[in-house]
Amino acid sequence: MKAILKLALVFLIFASGCARKSAELVFSVGGAPNELDFWETIAADFRKDTGINVRILRQPTDSDQRRQGILIPLKAGKNDPDVFLMDIAWIPQFAASGWLQDLDAVEGGPMDTAPFWKNIIDRSDKQDGKLVALPVYVDAGLLYYRKDLLKKYGASKPPATWEELIDISVKTQAGMRDSDPGFYAFVWQGAQYEGLVCDFLEFAGTKGGIRTEGGRIVVATPENAKALALMRDLVNKHKISPPNTYTEMKEEEVRLFFQKGNALFERNWPYAWGLHQAEGSPVKDKTGICPLPGFAGAGSVSTLGGWHIGMSKYSDVQKNAALFIKYVLSKKVQKELSINLGWNPARRDVYSDPDVLKVHPHFTQLRKIFDNAVPRPGLPYYTQVSEALQRHLNAAISGSEEPSAALEAAQKEIDAVAARYGGAK
Ligand code: GLC
Repeated sequence: MKAILKLALVFLIFASGCARKSAELVFSVGGAPNELDFWETIAADFRKDTGINVRILRQPTDSDQRRQGILIPLKAGKNDPDVFLMDIAWIPQFAASGWLQDLDAVEGGPMDTAPFWKNIIDRSDKQDGKLVALPVYVDAGLLYYRKDLLKKYGASKPPATWEELIDISVKTQAGMRDSDPGFYAFVWQGAQYEGLVCDFLEFAGTKGGIRTEGGRIVVATPENAKALALMRDLVNKHKISPPNTYTEMKEEEVRLFFQKGNALFERNWPYAWGLHQAEGSPVKDKTGICPLPGFAGAGSVSTLGGWHIGMSKYSDVQKNAALFIKYVLSKKVQKELSINLGWNPARRDVYSDPDVLKVHPHFTQLRKIFDNAVPRPGLPYYTQVSEALQRHLNAAISGSEEPSAALEAAQKEIDAVAARYGGAK
């Protein structure tokens, strides 16, 4: 028996050593199930064109979990994944750690950056003068609303301020509860993860957010405390957001809640549009999109998100990896991703494409939101800043910390992290 086990072990070691064929590359990507399925289609088309097999490493949707999954092989210097999608928020850290291949210096490079938004390339994809990533799609926070319910409960247009949102939410929820006891007017991302920081920046509005003042990252401000109190009150005082907002609500939980017809408003990224409008969706043709509300007189803020493609410094198939990156960023594939998944392409030429505009007439309106979207700070230690914020924001929403005390506590931790890394510059 022992001998058989030994033999099996030897075989396993041998097999794993041989598993990587030269015409194969590994692409690590996450997302909603329909998005992952679509990546399989893209990989199959690429194989037909080039004979190169792309093995897809399927990751979850949660940005923090995706980061962990990629970090482990990179820290260990493993040769796969060769290519991966990175949240825009991680690029400075990955670049500072020396994990990203310079895409202009690689065999099969350089890359053509002309079709993309120059400010995004300059701010996020170029680190220390090197092109280490390219945007696959851009994200910005949006308000989805039920057109039919707004009309039924007497609102002539979607709310421009949080005060208006609360008013119409309270009315609609009271009316809807008779037929749907699980109805909550407004769903958003309040669980303890990166998405919570994105939502917070939007509630914080034009006067709040994560500021850099004289080389210091500042979060403990009266404007931010006001925003955090609003987030808490939506759940605990107005009770228009469900109690599981701070325990469970991430993108997909929020999207499904709204899609089942159980909410009036939803904060989400553009990907939710395609799914709401899909055949069989209970909210098909009943959904509208508009900018997020703001505090009266302060205007709306959308957080800039998005996913960028990069290549591992440790990849041993860099020429093929460069070919795949070029393929993903081609107009053909960017159009497909946009038409099939509702993503906002990073290539500007896709926005004027008639096939795309036919499916996404709202793209014309979204352009404005994207132009003004607010980025998270581009710091190599942003994840630590975010982690401290996530914990205290979440505690304040649950009611276990007062908003200003929560921000003061986060500030202390952020100051300590910044000190370790030598300041915000
Ligand atoms: C989206 C955004 C990303 C953000 C994440 C938070 O995937 O594109 O930038 O960090 O949501 O959950």
